[in-house]
Amino acid sequence: GAGRAAQIRALIRDVPDYPHPPVVFRDITPLLADGPALTDVVEAFAGMHLADGASALDGEIDVVAGMEARGFLLGAPLATRLGVGFLPLRKAGKLPPPVERVDYDLEYGSAAIELRTGTLHPGARVLLIDDVLATGGTARAAAELVERSGGQVVALAFLLELVGLGGRDRLTGRTVETLLRVGS
Ligand code: PRP
Ligand code: MG
Repeated sequence: GAGRAAQIRALIRDVPDYPHPPVVFRDITPLLADGPALTDVVEAFAGMHLADGASALDGEIDVVAGMEARGFLLGAPLATRLGVGFLPLRKAGKLPPPVERVDYDLEYGSAAIELRTGTLHPGARVLLIDDVLATGGTARAAAELVERSGGQVVALAFLLELVGLGGRDRLTGRTVETLLRVGS
């Protein structure tokens, strides 16, 4: 309920002006360290109903993909909960070639994510997961990477949406689910 959501929200630490002004860094470490909270977050993701209102997540996806690094921390436990595999989308330079690569801009700096060519089964139904939806740059790049690698993006799910940074606008036409929303 709403009370539990507020408790979960309180376990995400806001760090003003990190790594530089005016960015507010959202640190999920306290949440990860809290056993019941982590369990509730994973259960909330597992119990999501996608935007069409009808389909539950269970049975609708073949694999959970998470964006390095914080998407790994939520995506891997969700994958085991759903009984599907987990696909790590790596930051640039971590994987041996050949890789697919998508470059993107961050609120602070730029980055690239990669997936080794041939890792994803053709047509695999993929749920993308990450901790925070801010500008949407990371998520958009991840969706593009999955599609370029032959997968279908069923939905993107986030623990925390920073409303007002344009994330949803960069994901127009996609199914986006967020457990918590705050003004940026
Ligand atoms: C943070 C966060 C999201 C992304 C959101 O990751 O974990 O992945 O930024 O921002 P965006 O919507 O503007 O793209 P970061 O790149 O800081 O790296 P980390 O997950 O490795 O800590
Ligand atoms: Mg991240």
